[in-house]
Amino acid sequence: MDNFSGEQKTLDVLILAAGLGTRMRSNLAKVLHKLDGRPLINHVCLTATALAPRKIYVVIGHQGEDVKAAVLEELNEEYAAFVWQKEQLGTGHAVNSAREFLETEDSTLLVLSGDVPMIRHETLAALVQQHHNHRGKGAACTILTVKVDDPVGYGRIVRDGAGFFSRIVEQKDASEEERQINEINSGIYCFNTRKLFAALSSVQNDNVQGEYYLTDVPALLREAGEDVSLYQHTDAREVSGINNRAELADLERIVCRRTISKMMLDYGVTFIDPKNTYVSGQASIGRDTIIYPNVSIEGASVVGDGCTIRQGTRITNSRIGRGVEILDNCVVIDSEISDRCAIGPMAHLRGKAKLEESAKVGNFVELKKTILGRGSKASHLTYLGDATIGEKTNIGAGTITCNYDGVNKQATIIEDNVKIGSSTMLVAPVRVGSGSVTGAGSVVTKDVPPDSLVVGAPARVKKNLKDADGENKKSESNAG
Ligand code: UD1
Ligand code: CA
Repeated sequence: MDNFSGEQKTLDVLILAAGLGTRMRSNLAKVLHKLDGRPLINHVCLTATALAPRKIYVVIGHQGEDVKAAVLEELNEEYAAFVWQKEQLGTGHAVNSAREFLETEDSTLLVLSGDVPMIRHETLAALVQQHHNHRGKGAACTILTVKVDDPVGYGRIVRDGAGFFSRIVEQKDASEEERQINEINSGIYCFNTRKLFAALSSVQNDNVQGEYYLTDVPALLREAGEDVSLYQHTDAREVSGINNRAELADLERIVCRRTISKMMLDYGVTFIDPKNTYVSGQASIGRDTIIYPNVSIEGASVVGDGCTIRQGTRITNSRIGRGVEILDNCVVIDSEISDRCAIGPMAHLRGKAKLEESAKVGNFVELKKTILGRGSKASHLTYLGDATIGEKTNIGAGTITCNYDGVNKQATIIEDNVKIGSSTMLVAPVRVGSGSVTGAGSVVTKDVPPDSLVVGAPARVKKNLKDADGENKKSESNAG
C-alpha cells in the first residue's frame, strides 16, 4: 500500500489584487506601491512562478489596467489571466469573480494576497504538499497560519477543543476573548478548486464590514464534512501583510538589511553605515568595494570590485566597472562607467552615458547620452549631451555642447587628443578633428579639421598645428 501519495493535482494560482487599500491613504492602488523598487504585486507574481503552476489568475479592480501592466512585466501573456472585480465587496467576492474560469476545474487553487509580498516559494511548496498529502487523500482547504506577537488587524484562527480548525474570525468581528488568539490567518490558502466554488455560493455578508469574506469558506467546508487542515509556519515576517505605510516601511527596512547583510557576509562589500544605505535586491556589488553612508544603489545596477562610492551618491540601473571612484553626491542613471574611472563630486550621468576606461568626470559635470573615451577628462562645470568623445581628450571648464536646435537634438563629435578650451560652446551638429585645440571662449559652429587651433566667436582656424612637411602650417582660413 502506498500511504505516501496524496493527490497531485494540477496547480493554479489566484492572486487577490483588486482592492484600493484604504489604509494606505493613497491615490495609488496598494499593490502598486513599491517594495525594494518593485510593485508589491510583482513580488507575489515572481514567487508564484517558482511553483510552475498551470496559470496565474490575478483579480484586478482598482487601477486594474495599471496593475495588469505591472503583472505583465513579470509574467508572460499566456501564463497570466486577469479577472475583473468591478466592485470590491470582499475577498470572497474577489475569488468569486473567477468562478467562470475555475468553477469546474479539477485542480488545486493556491490563493495569494497581492499585499503579502515576502512569502517564499519554498513555504508555498510545503503548503501545497501538505494540502495534497493530507490523510493520504488531500484536504478541501489548507490554511497557512502563523503565531505572531501582535495579531491586531489579522483574522484569528479559532481551533476546537481537540486543536482542529474551527473557523476564522476577522479582527472586527472577534470577541474580546477571540482577539487574544495569536495564531493568525496569513491570507494564503490552498483549496480544492471545485469545493471552494461550491462553498463560496453560501458565503453571506452579515458581518461588521458587510463584506463577502473568503475567510468564511473554510468553516463552511468543515461544516459540510470536508477536511480543513492548518499549515502553521514559523517565520511571521514572511507572511506580513502590508496595509499601511508604516508596515511598508518596516518591510522595506527588513528587505534592505537582508540584502546588505548578504553583500557584507557573502560578497565582501564594506558598508560604512549599513543602516543608512539602500541597496536593491536586484543589484550586485563586487568584493572590497566600499560604500559610504546615504548611498542608494537601485534597480539591477552592477558595481565591480574595489570601487569606492562616497556619501550621498545614487546609482540607478547602471554598470560600474572595477576600481572606480565615485565621490560625494553623484547621480548615475542608466549609464555605464568602465574600470578605473573617477567621477564627482556632484556629477550627473544619465541617458546611457558611457565612460570608457580611466575617464574622468569632475565637479558639476553633466553627461547625457555621451561617450567619453578612454583616459579623457571633463573635470569642471560642463554639459556634454549627444556627444561622442575620443581618447585622451580634455574638455576644459565650462564647456557646453549646444545640442538642441529648438526642434531636434544634434550630435557633437570630438576626436582623440583634442584640447577643448575653457568655456567653449560647441554648436551641434559639429565635429572637432583629432589633435585640435579650441581657444577659451570659442563658439564652434563649423567642423574643425584635425590638428587645428580655432579661436573666437564664431571660431575660425588660427593655425594648423601639425609640423609634417610644413604644409598648411601657416594657413589661416575658415574652420568649415
Ligand atoms: C485578510 C483576511 C484576514 C487575514 C489578512 C492577512 C479576509 C476577510 N481577511 O484581511 O483574515 O488575516 O488578509 O493579510 O479575507 N481584495 C480584493 N477585492 C476585495 C477585497 C480585497 O481583491 O473586494 C484584495 C486586496 O487588494 C488585498 C487582498 O485582497 O490584496 C487582502 O485584502 P485586505 O483588505 O487587505 O484584507 P485584510 O483586511 O488584510
Ligand atoms: Ca491585507
